[in-house]
Amino acid sequence: MPHTSIISGGSRGLGLALVERFLERGDRVATFSRSGSQPLANLAALHPDRLHTETLDAADARLLCRFVERVGQRFGQIDHCIANAAVAHEGVLATTRDDEIDSMLSVNLRGTIVLVRETVRQMLLNPSATSSIVVISSIVAARGSSGLSVYAATKAGLEGFAKSLARELGSRGIRVNAVSPGFLETDLSASLSAENRSRIIRRTPLGRLGEPADVVGAIDFLSSARAGFITGQVLTIDGGAS
Ligand SMILES: NC(=O)c1ccc[n+]([C@@H]2O[C@H](COP(=O)([O-])OP(=O)(O)OC[C@H]3O[C@@H](n4cnc5c(N)ncnc54)[C@H](OP(=O)(O)O)[C@@H]3O)[C@@H](O)[C@H]2O)c1
Repeated sequence: MPHTSIISGGSRGLGLALVERFLERGDRVATFSRSGSQPLANLAALHPDRLHTETLDAADARLLCRFVERVGQRFGQIDHCIANAAVAHEGVLATTRDDEIDSMLSVNLRGTIVLVRETVRQMLLNPSATSSIVVISSIVAARGSSGLSVYAATKAGLEGFAKSLARELGSRGIRVNAVSPGFLETDLSASLSAENRSRIIRRTPLGRLGEPADVVGAIDFLSSARAGFITGQVLTIDGGAS
């Protein structure tokens, strides 16, 4: 029986690479984003029976609840959830607007919490042998970054959420971990100045920014029986920079 994995924010960047990898390993995959993308539409055409895509805004909790309900109705048991969708508004705190703060809190933090809560409800009703949750944090949660204080707050919140939930759900056989990437070559980091980019590369022992593919393997592992005794961990993947 193939596993079912929910991967939020699958239209591009890390989320798209995860959708590709989880389809490749044989899972049924459900994903959403505010707008679709051509690469995701191509995957949906290739895997009409195994890929469920929707467009919705993760800031709206009701839409997230209905999404998870529809995934359960379509695929039955949900085995894995990777909470990946996030937004980042860069800028010093003094000039950060209320709507930017609200957007990061409601998508990155509340959206992830609601998505995971709805998934966990389904997992508890319909348990699987290898249930797991992975939340995507960022290295800035632990290290801090000027101009990213609110984004870092949301990611630090997710790490606390994952560690507490791992304790809460361990007895039910549901593992919860966080993955904390360094800067990755995606749309989210496209606004990095040339100066910041070279500074990050200089202090990274492996001498480059990460690619989504550098992170996908670890999430694939954590969302599998091979990681069956790993829970409550934050796995940093940053080329050794921290
Ligand atoms: N890139 C980096 O340097 C880096 C470093 C550390 C951690 N991370 C983390 O890694 C994860 C993936 O980042 P990425 O670089 O792949 O980002 P990305 O390229 O900007 O992709 C983000 C994905 O999330 C979706 N999304 C954003 N806001 C949404 C909303 N309100 N509702 C529904 N979907 C939404 C986007 O689609 P739509 O825009 O169409 O909604 C897209 O599919 C994030 O959690 C990010 O914080 C990234």
